[in-house]
Amino acid sequence: MPNCRVCGENLREFLDFGSQPLSDAFRRPADPGDEFFFRLAVGSCTSCSMVQLMEEVPRDRMFHHDYPYHSSGSSVMRKHFERTARDFLETELAAPDSFAVELGCNDGIMLRTIGDAGRRHLGVEPSGGVAEIARANGVRVRTDFFEHSVAVDIHREDGPANVIYAANTMCHIPYAESIFEGVAALLAEDGVFVFEDPYLGDIVKQTSFDQIYDEHFYFFSVRSVQALARRFGFELVDVERLPVHGGEVRYTIARAGRREPAPSVAELADEELTLGLHEPATLDAFAVRVREIRDELVALLEGLRAQGRTVVGYGATAKSATVLNYCGIGPGLVSSIVDTTPAKQGRVTPGSHIPVRPADTFGEPYPDVALLFAWNHADEIMAKEQAFRAAGGKWILYVPKPRLV
Ligand code: SAM
Ligand code: TMP
Ligand code: ZN
Repeated sequence: MPNCRVCGENLREFLDFGSQPLSDAFRRPADPGDEFFFRLAVGSCTSCSMVQLMEEVPRDRMFHHDYPYHSSGSSVMRKHFERTARDFLETELAAPDSFAVELGCNDGIMLRTIGDAGRRHLGVEPSGGVAEIARANGVRVRTDFFEHSVAVDIHREDGPANVIYAANTMCHIPYAESIFEGVAALLAEDGVFVFEDPYLGDIVKQTSFDQIYDEHFYFFSVRSVQALARRFGFELVDVERLPVHGGEVRYTIARAGRREPAPSVAELADEELTLGLHEPATLDAFAVRVREIRDELVALLEGLRAQGRTVVGYGATAKSATVLNYCGIGPGLVSSIVDTTPAKQGRVTPGSHIPVRPADTFGEPYPDVALLFAWNHADEIMAKEQAFRAAGGKWILYVPKPRLV
C-alpha cells in the first residue's frame, strides 16, 4: 500500500476502477496493441485527508509533444480565462512591471490576455505541441515541467512573480513538495499562488466519478489544501466556488501571516465538516453509488441496442476513458464519438477503441441518442446542437444518475 504523497502517512483506499489506459492516449486504428495500463484506484489520507490516486503514472507518458487537450476548444472556458486574466490585471498585476507565471498554460488561453495588456509573463508548459500554439498566440512559454529547479531558474532570470497561477494543473502533479518549494523560491514576498481544480465536494455530491483518471492525481478540498499549504509555510487565504468543469474551487495561497484569510475559507471548511466530506462512510457511500451508475448505464445502453436505436458519444473527454473502460463499453454499444479536437479525430479511444470523428459530422445523420461525455460543457453543447433535439434526438447524461433527457 503506498503512503500519502503529501505527508507520508497511511492511505485508506475507497474505490478501485481496476486496470485503465491513459485517458488521453488516443490511438491510430493501425497502432499495435501494446497499450499502457495501470491500476486506477483512489484513497484518502488518514492524517492530512488528501484524496489521491493509489498509483502514479510517470509524467512523460501523459504530458508530451502530442498531448491532445487544447484548452481553447470551449467558448465558455475562453470567457472564463479572459475574465480571470482581467481580474488579475486589476488587482495583483495592476503595477505595470508586475510579473505573472502560469503553470500548465496549455495553448495560452489565459496568458494571451495578460500578454496583450503588456504585462511580463511566462507560461511553463511541458506539452510541446500546445506550447507552440501558445507561442503563436504571442505568449512567452518555457517548455518544461514546473518544479523546484525550474522555479529557481525563472527567479534568477525574471525576478519574483506577483502571481503564480495554475488552472486544472495542480491536481495533475503528484510531486506537490517540489511545486511548493518552487513557489516558495519564485513568489514575491506579498505575492499569491492561485490554483483551481475540480472540487472534491462537487465530485462526491454529484457522484462525478469520471473526474477520476490518470491525470487527476489529487482531489482537493479546503481541509486538505489548508494542510498542504501549512506544510510548506503557506496559508490558504481565499476560496471561490467556480461553475466550470462540473464544479471547481479556486484556492488563493499566500506566505503564512502575509494576508488576512477571507471568511469564505472558514465557511467552506465548515460546510465540508457538516457534509462529513472526509468521513470514511461518505467516501464508501460514494463508491457504492459509482457501481450503481455503472450498472444502470450499461443496462440503459443494452436496452437501446435491443430496440435497434443508434447511440453516438459526444466529447471524447479524458473523463470518458474511466466511464468506457470501467463500464466495459465499446463500439458495440457506442458506435463512435464526435469531438472538435483535431488531435483526437481519426483515432480510437484508449482501451475501448471507439472511433472519434469530427463534431461537425454529428448530423450525418443524427443518431437516435447521444451520450454526453462532455457533460461539464452541457449548456454550450446543447445550445449549439439544438437541431439534434428538434430532429427527435435524446441525450444521455450519467451523473448523478443515468437518464435520457
Ligand atoms: N490550464 C489549462 C486549462 O485549464 O484549460 C490546461 C489544463 S490541462 C488539463 C493540464 C496542463 O498541465 C497540460 O497542458 C500539461 O501539459 C500541464 N502540466 C502537467 N504537469 C505540469 C508541470 N509540472 N508544470 C507545468 N505544467 C504541467
Ligand atoms: P474537457 O471536459 O476536459 O474540457 O474536454 C472536453 C472535450 O469535449 C474536448 O475533447 C473537446 C470536446 N468538445 C466538443 O467536442 N465540443 C464542444 O462544444 C466542447 C465545449 C468540447
Ligand atoms: Zn497525508
